Amino acid sequence: MTTIAEFANLLNNTMGLSPDTVGLSVIESAVKTRVSACRSKDLQDYWEHVHACAAELQELIDEVIVPETWFFRDQEAFAAMAHEVHENWLPLHPEGQLRLLSLPCATGEEPYSMAMALLAAGVPGNRFRVDAIDISARLLKRAREAVYGKNSFRGKSLDFRDRYFEPVGSEFRVADAVRAQVHFHHGNLLDPCFAPDSTTYDCIFCRNVLIYFDRATQDRAVQVLTRLLKADGFLFAGSSEGGLMLNNAFVSAKLALAFAFRHKAHATPGLDAPAARLRTPRRLTARVIPDPAAKPAAKRVAPSRPAASIAQPAGTPTGLDEISRFANQGRLSEALERGEEFLRTCGPSVQAYHLMGLVHDATGMYQEAEQYYRKALYLDPDHHEALVHLAFLLEQQGDAPGAQRLHRRAKRVNSGGRA
Ligand SMILES: C[S@@+](CC[C@H](N)C(=O)[O-])C[C@H]1O[C@@H](n2cnc3c(N)ncnc32)[C@H](O)[C@@H]1O
Repeated sequence: MTTIAEFANLLNNTMGLSPDTVGLSVIESAVKTRVSACRSKDLQDYWEHVHACAAELQELIDEVIVPETWFFRDQEAFAAMAHEVHENWLPLHPEGQLRLLSLPCATGEEPYSMAMALLAAGVPGNRFRVDAIDISARLLKRAREAVYGKNSFRGKSLDFRDRYFEPVGSEFRVADAVRAQVHFHHGNLLDPCFAPDSTTYDCIFCRNVLIYFDRATQDRAVQVLTRLLKADGFLFAGSSEGGLMLNNAFVSAKLALAFAFRHKAHATPGLDAPAARLRTPRRLTARVIPDPAAKPAAKRVAPSRPAASIAQPAGTPTGLDEISRFANQGRLSEALERGEEFLRTCGPSVQAYHLMGLVHDATGMYQEAEQYYRKALYLDPDHHEALVHLAFLLEQQGDAPGAQRLHRRAKRVNSGGRA
């Protein structure tokens, strides 16, 4: 008698999905949907069908994947990438084409964001090409159609939508100039024949997929990425996937809040000096420090604390906007001054503590950054961004167990539980 555990095994072997990360119930629900769509008699009947028909295995994969994505998700990565390309790659390469990869690309928001960030930074379209790969045929179809609803546009600043989209009813279609830069392909990162040609990439975005794999599969995936990334290339990971890169053949690229990595062999010794650590992109229009108003988690407070002790005074958003604005303009010392002044006059604030953590982090003042993240978490233990940023900081400082604990807490918060 076939069991759900056997389907979980099949999916684990085929696409790397670990039942421990998504839960057996998610797999069960996907299998049941397909059983009923195929009018199979029972699990055994469907098991035989899925083995006899490659198209049905693809349908099952499409049913079970997690498609969550949006434009400029963790936008610091796009700003940092475009800055590196514009400031360093272009001057060094007066000819030739920059090769970028979004793997996995889901419904296309990530690769289109990469193209928009580069075009906005002034990189001509004929100087770069974005390849975008995903295992899901359904998601790739939607990516090629390039029409998006409001769920793909999160965050406060949507200037890019006015510039690079055209309205289609209540939705928005990516402009042809952006679409022309992105080439979609179907592929399984764990397929032994994956990307068999010798193409390597200057920039790879591999974000928010390794979290669904078990440890051995994560290492296999990182080996694939190691092979695909050029010797001097940049690898951008998801905010909770950085530790995996550091455990393998990569080191931090020291780009503020971008979760970017380079081959260990390419690390420049001088770059580890604190003063040189974080080259904050200054010229880009994209924000480096997130807009506090775009972070709903930052507004939550610990229910166990009396509201009065953490009450946000009137005018809070304006003060915080100012700190963000200075930080995004690269005026970090002014951002710090404003932050201190804000805390002096307005008292404890989760958002201010988190922002101060980010700014200290960006200036290489890690001890202070850690203290501010911890203060934010004291007021709001469920503050997802503070959990992730502090985890990453601890990881960089070699405190892997501490980082893992925080990543686990962040994951619980993300899935709707309490930290
Ligand atoms: C949460 S989305 C991440 C999308 C985007 N990178 C981002 O960060 O917003 C995860 C994607 O991984 C894809 N995926 C899962 N396993 C894969 C595999 N073995 N090979 C390629 N893509 C895979 C899924 O189809 C899904 O589109």
